Amino acid sequence: MVQGQPQVLISADAIAAKVAELGARIARDYATRREPLLLVGVLKGSFIFLADLARQIPIPHAVDFIALSSYGKTTTRTDEVRLMMDLRETVAGKHVLVVEDIVDTGHTLAYLLRLLDARQPASLKTCTLVEKPARREVDVPLDYVGFEIPDKWVVGYGLDYADQYRTLPYIGCVEPPRSE
Ligand code: PRP
Repeated sequence: MVQGQPQVLISADAIAAKVAELGARIARDYATRREPLLLVGVLKGSFIFLADLARQIPIPHAVDFIALSSYGKTTTRTDEVRLMMDLRETVAGKHVLVVEDIVDTGHTLAYLLRLLDARQPASLKTCTLVEKPARREVDVPLDYVGFEIPDKWVVGYGLDYADQYRTLPYIGCVEPPRSE
């Protein structure tokens, strides 16, 4: 387990303001497109962000989920990503916006973009609530970014440590034990 309570990095109010801003931008950018807009949430981490973001996008859109996971990951990112659960919706001819809670090394998003691009969407863009530029190992295009954060282990608002803390209303830092 981690020691103590997470230290607040991004407050619930700051998250809410940013989500509203992102939603308004996305709605503006997609308002005149004729093809359908599909938001693709990456499970598990994006479920809270996507729920809030979707309600801040006042134009017609559909929501779907895909589940990805890295092999053998606890607090260490690896570059082996596997598909745990595929989309229910088709992607061909739609404007697809991938919604992530966090982009760290970039391997998960790189894998997903290759997968979705092969399905011939009308367009393919990305939105992440937080990103850690210092940790990037592969170059991935980030079209909508909420916050750039330092290289700390973060939890809350969907983000976990060993599947705990996802329902914290804020994003906080924890100190993982040294042995991990
Ligand atoms: C997290 C997050 C991203 C990924 C980013 O998912 O939701 O999908 O890591 O890391 P990367 O940029 O280094 O690939 P995780 O694999 O922890 O699973 P979870 O969403 O189920 O918690």
